[in-house]
Amino acid sequence: MPTLSSRAGRATLGLLMLTLSALAVVVASTSTPVRAADPVTVLTSSFEDGTVQGWARRGTAELVENSTAVAHAGTRSLLTSGRTASWNGPSRDLLTTVTRGTRYTYSVWARAAAGAGTVQLRMSVERRWQGTANYEQVVNSTTVTDGGWTQLTGGYTLANDADFFAVYVETVSGTASFHIDDFSLSYLPASPIQTDIPSLKSVFANDFPIGAAVGRPQLLAERGQLLAKHFNSVTAGNAMKWDATEPTEGVFTYTDADAIVAFARANAMLVRGHTFVWHNQTPAWVFNDANGQPMTATAANKTLLLARLEAHIRAVGGRYAADVSAWDVVNEVIDENQSDGLRRSTWYTITGLDYIRTAFRVARQVAPNAKLFINDYNTNVAAKRDKLYNLVAQLKAEGVPIDGVGHQQHGNISWPTGAETDSMIATFIPLGVEQQITEMDTSIYTSSSESFTTPPADRLTSQAARYKAWFDVYRKYKANITSVTFWGLADDETWLDSYPVSRKDFPLLFDVQLQAKPAYWAVIGAASPTASGPASPSASASAPPSPSASPSRSASPSPSVSPSPSASPSASVSPSPSASASPPPSGSGVPPVPCRVKYTVTNQWNTGFQGDVVITNSGPAAVNGWALRWTFANGQVVNQSWSSTYAQSGANVTITNAAWNGAIVANGGTVSFGFLSSWNGTNAKPTAFTLNGNTCALG
Ligand code: XIL
Repeated sequence: MPTLSSRAGRATLGLLMLTLSALAVVVASTSTPVRAADPVTVLTSSFEDGTVQGWARRGTAELVENSTAVAHAGTRSLLTSGRTASWNGPSRDLLTTVTRGTRYTYSVWARAAAGAGTVQLRMSVERRWQGTANYEQVVNSTTVTDGGWTQLTGGYTLANDADFFAVYVETVSGTASFHIDDFSLSYLPASPIQTDIPSLKSVFANDFPIGAAVGRPQLLAERGQLLAKHFNSVTAGNAMKWDATEPTEGVFTYTDADAIVAFARANAMLVRGHTFVWHNQTPAWVFNDANGQPMTATAANKTLLLARLEAHIRAVGGRYAADVSAWDVVNEVIDENQSDGLRRSTWYTITGLDYIRTAFRVARQVAPNAKLFINDYNTNVAAKRDKLYNLVAQLKAEGVPIDGVGHQQHGNISWPTGAETDSMIATFIPLGVEQQITEMDTSIYTSSSESFTTPPADRLTSQAARYKAWFDVYRKYKANITSVTFWGLADDETWLDSYPVSRKDFPLLFDVQLQAKPAYWAVIGAASPTASGPASPSASASAPPSPSASPSRSASPSPSVSPSPSASPSASVSPSPSASASPPPSGSGVPPVPCRVKYTVTNQWNTGFQGDVVITNSGPAAVNGWALRWTFANGQVVNQSWSSTYAQSGANVTITNAAWNGAIVANGGTVSFGFLSSWNGTNAKPTAFTLNGNTCALG
């Protein structure tokens, strides 16, 4: 993980750039169009009625009782005493109180019992499904004392099946007695997502797939709609890591990863696999020797660790071989402060460089269709970048099957600069590797002492400028960059809320209510609806065209990005289905083409390839039920498709809609599907397509 010092140091330098970049800012926005919505409180526990209000002990020894000794408000609280284990404590059943997919704020006031001094408390939830329990922290370890009340607040979304669900408070260690009071459970009513703004994936359709790292909450309800609308790639933020997939040796759990992959399949999205090898989120057993003791550097332990690594990659990589198009095979292995540039993780101290060699070799065997990446943060920092370069060059020279370099791109509003990002990409081009942006986010903070509960307008403006500077570079190098992924979907849930310190952060393109932020508008190259001035033209020749109409200042949050007849074929701001109210371009004298087909080979290996196809209905009538036909020139044979069904007769391929995507809205509505096919020798793209018998335009 990035160290605070490295980030903070760069951030100070970056601050010098802030004033300059603010002058060049694209979106002169004053605020983000957040809709006013008040939280709805679904449960409170004040204990003022003298009862325990549904709270109960978790264990069998402790006493959970109403108390008049101290109170946060009023005269009463809930006291837990007589604890014999740190997990003992008060718990409240919430199974029928919470709605699956809704993110709730959990808040409670806590205080150590008189004489208990200082205690570390945390709040967690326990969910069970068919006999298996899971425990997740809602509020990390928090210091409370017997001299006053401390608030514990955090957010959690129940996204899994559950037949038991409860919140509880416990000590991190020890058995001290403590009080809680004024518990509340509330949520912000969901805002509908904006369906009338261009989707990111359509804006960048000619450049690279656009991804988001998600967990199960992001697959549901409005979040799921936002994910499907804007993104054509998905990464499991945690669900494919070692601790999630093989918590105990040989026992594999795929519930969450499977759910993410199923969502990707249903929505024709690519899947980035993250990650096989990391020094974090790896269970302790992996590094224990045959006697259950922490490994020391012996030949036997090296053999054991590499065998565990191989078994893990065979299982997880094999399971998702048909789904994952790119794997972060190893994550964060560089330490630029070591002369050899290699992080002194347990992986390294037990196996040297062999864990990296083994990981890539096994990954290639079990997931031959996936591109294999080495992924790291701060790859824009020259010292680290160059150590990474040397390692990749060495591995390639050895014949290790490494296809690409992943740049995490965790940054902030002033760092890294466009210039640093440019040399980051340029450095690796001579190695002939693919490059992907894998975990991008832009913190609104430049030091860990800052904290805002709502993001100040000037920070959002700076954030927009930072994202714009990076995307200008990505477009410039689109021939080298094969994917751009955000580390999260929207500001309602981000890992930066607890890293490097606990505070609310707002690092993504969509706000806490899933609405487009100034950063979104800057990234798509359009003026923000709240802008006080027009968008300035982009400095980059390959940047998207400015929208041909001026930004709407009406109450509607929708921008007036409309299809421009003069846009070049690479213009990627395309109308969303609901833009059908705008008439098609007129006056050109050319009859409208009823359909357009964009056929992309997104992945190709020695015997097969993945194709992704976007069909646009550019005619004035809705399509209800469709069949797309083409002819392969080089003997390719389709053997799988998703979001569609396929048939092939000789060289002639017919793809028909799935049950749920037969309708294509008039005047610019789109549907997409994907397929896998074999190829041999040559893999020319089809040159003609018909949709329900009508010839379609290409691209
Ligand atoms: C983060 C997740 O987002 C958090 O939920 C988790 O608690 C810690 O890990 N670099 C990486 C990612 O490669 O795997 C990390 O993800 C963020 C930093």
